[in-house]
Amino acid sequence: MNDEHERDAVDLVARDTSADTLSSNSSTHSYRWNAVLNGKEITVVTSPSRRLVDLLRHDLQMTGTKVSCEIGRCGACMVLVDGQPLNSCLLMAYQCEGKSITTIEGIGSTALPSFEEDPLAGVDPVQAAFLEEGGFQCGYCTPGMILSTKALLDNHPHPTRQQIEEGLCGNLCRCTGYGAIIRSVERAIVHCDERDLSTNQGIK
Ligand code: FES
Ligand code: FES
Repeated sequence: MNDEHERDAVDLVARDTSADTLSSNSSTHSYRWNAVLNGKEITVVTSPSRRLVDLLRHDLQMTGTKVSCEIGRCGACMVLVDGQPLNSCLLMAYQCEGKSITTIEGIGSTALPSFEEDPLAGVDPVQAAFLEEGGFQCGYCTPGMILSTKALLDNHPHPTRQQIEEGLCGNLCRCTGYGAIIRSVERAIVHCDERDLSTNQGIK
């Protein structure tokens, strides 16, 4: 671990000694949980009974990951674990020890210009496609939808309609009726192709 990562670990350990540790103390022993979160090595002192979704939302204040059914049916809490879309409400944090976890906060750039300047600058191609096609209304399902779409396009850059439907079958949306979501995924395919083309041209 380099110095910067060391600092992150210390910060998170320090933060955990406040309010959240109370629940850890009342349960069982705590331990140091290590993972790579959105590309950064981190360490958190937590309880073996902590779910991944609670660790993300409460210990790390990463509330982009949503919670709804809490029984693995809706996909609102979906994150990528070593590139695989999984429901974080069903995962214990210790099951993800040492793994690479991506949440919606790790998608796209955080260094965004103002919306008036360029609404799509720094936005991931999948996020841009959802914005352009209106693939959300309340947005509660959207982080999970976007992460599922990322995983789908990583495995199948040009999925069929059936593969798109299968790729999103773990994500429930209560608002859109899915038409706009499917169109968003189809547009994301085009955006990813354009991005890959410009990346390749940049390399030449
Ligand atoms: S909150 Fe995890 S699947 Fe619904
Ligand atoms: S946009 Fe509201 S649940 Fe999908």
